Amino acid sequence: MVPVLPRRATVGQNTPAQREGDRTDLQPRRYHQDHRRLQISHYRVVPRGQKPCGTTAANALMTICFMKRFLRLITLASALAPLSLLAQNRVSIAKTGKDTISRQIYGHFAEHLGRCIYDGFYVGEGNKTIPNINGVRTDVVQALKKLKIPNLRWPGGCFADTYHWRDGVGPKKSRPSMLNIWWGNVREDNSFGTHEFLNMCELLGTEPYLSANVGSGTPQELADWIKYTTHPNGSSPMPELRQQNGRTEPWNVKYWGIGNEAWGCGGNMTADYYANLYRQFATFMSNGSKDYSLFRIASGASDGDYTWTETLMKNIPHSLLDAVALHHYSVIEWAKKGPSTTFDEETYMKTMKQALLMEELVTKHSAVMDKYDPKKKVALLVDEWGGWYDVEPGTNSAFLYQQNTLRDAMIAGTTLNTFNNHCDRVKMANLAQAINVLQAVILTEGNKMLLTPTYHVMEMYTVHHDATLLPVEVKSEDYKLGGDKLPAVSVSASKDRQNRVHVSLVNIDAKKANDVTVDLNGLPAGTITGRVLTSTKLQDHNTFAQPNKVAPTAFSGFKRDGDKLTVSLPPFSVVVLEVK
Ligand code: AHR
Repeated sequence: MVPVLPRRATVGQNTPAQREGDRTDLQPRRYHQDHRRLQISHYRVVPRGQKPCGTTAANALMTICFMKRFLRLITLASALAPLSLLAQNRVSIAKTGKDTISRQIYGHFAEHLGRCIYDGFYVGEGNKTIPNINGVRTDVVQALKKLKIPNLRWPGGCFADTYHWRDGVGPKKSRPSMLNIWWGNVREDNSFGTHEFLNMCELLGTEPYLSANVGSGTPQELADWIKYTTHPNGSSPMPELRQQNGRTEPWNVKYWGIGNEAWGCGGNMTADYYANLYRQFATFMSNGSKDYSLFRIASGASDGDYTWTETLMKNIPHSLLDAVALHHYSVIEWAKKGPSTTFDEETYMKTMKQALLMEELVTKHSAVMDKYDPKKKVALLVDEWGGWYDVEPGTNSAFLYQQNTLRDAMIAGTTLNTFNNHCDRVKMANLAQAINVLQAVILTEGNKMLLTPTYHVMEMYTVHHDATLLPVEVKSEDYKLGGDKLPAVSVSASKDRQNRVHVSLVNIDAKKANDVTVDLNGLPAGTITGRVLTSTKLQDHNTFAQPNKVAPTAFSGFKRDGDKLTVSLPPFSVVVLEVK
């Protein structure tokens, strides 16, 4: 019998990384090679052959001589290097690329947790006060369509390993209730089940990602769920049941998670044990559609647990494995997460340290995968990421409802840049979670809805969906606070099918604007336009009384000089440029 551990005690203490408080320091970004050239020329501004000023002259003469030399130096320096070239933040964009930034990187996550499903997505078919389409909020549908959300993961999270899909199909009044043991022991009446979710995905134009119960389920239950959802009518009793329940045609369900956090709330398993279970469950997954094959996702590591990834890559035949997951939350300390809006700069720095750790995690997990899969056939899938703070005062502590500020915009901008830049291995990701939970893109209250700063970053980055990654080399100044420092500037770039280049730049510095010199390397740049997301204070956020306090605006803080572009990034800002 698996003991029911208090939530997050499980996650917080069950991985070697977290037990040992392992926090590997961030590595500085690669230096642009030009930068070294620039530094050398900087020190050679006095032309060769010129006689140095005398060293034995009187003091006054020495001063004049020094002043003359200094002035000459300045004049020469500005002639040789326009101001833009002296900026310390430099970005070089490759002219071409080979990897595609899968739009699936911009995926979302909807768990039966707090007010994500009920109140967030779904208000019930009979609801007369909140406009809805078959029970799904109309305002939410419109907002998420604008975000072009490519996939939605459901029903958990931890909830998934307690969920039995049969409880959520058939007439609603006959559906049994259960206790949601992970999230506040509230009553789950199963009124939102498989049909409601998959129909909602069709409404949203998004691909479903079903997370199957391994912890307390069986291979048969998973095999039946696949048949129920994807097999053609008449092929077995499962599609018959689907038809009886009102749906004749199968849905398209390509993405299947085989368990969640198997090392913790998904069953407290060892990696070896889970790898064996995975093999068993995956063996009986059979696809009912000729149009696509099932994409099987193994429950992955938490943070820096590289042994977990290695065990799965080594012990699961790759013919059964399409992706290995990874979860990383930008949390400072599980026991002391701090408030979502009233944080100080020191706390901000700590959060950003955790957020930027994603770069190292993705790099190192990919390196482990490379050992077993050098052709990168198995994807790394970060199916839970985002900021995690204390809940809003006065709300249920198990519901994980938090506000969303410019700090979250910084997490989103830098993390998405990391995923873009690693798109050769990272093929999908899911922000946790879509509505009213953790780093949500939408918050709701009765019939009101607001879009968070994170929503706006996601919307600004839609330009990268399915575009070709243009690799960037970045040299960044440091954002410093006390003895701590982090690279201030993060960048990614892509070229879309219409040959438009998009560059997303983030300046995480809480106080300092940062000028960035972008080397376009001959990319055609007839017109450049931009948008920016920033605000007066880092703690600014949207409220139901002031829903548009933080929103993107047009950006003109750039200057072009031939092949070089100087972009002036305000403090804590996300900028997306379009170059065409
Ligand atoms: O997103 C909230 C929870 O965090 C998920 O249910 C679980 O997978 C993770 O620990």
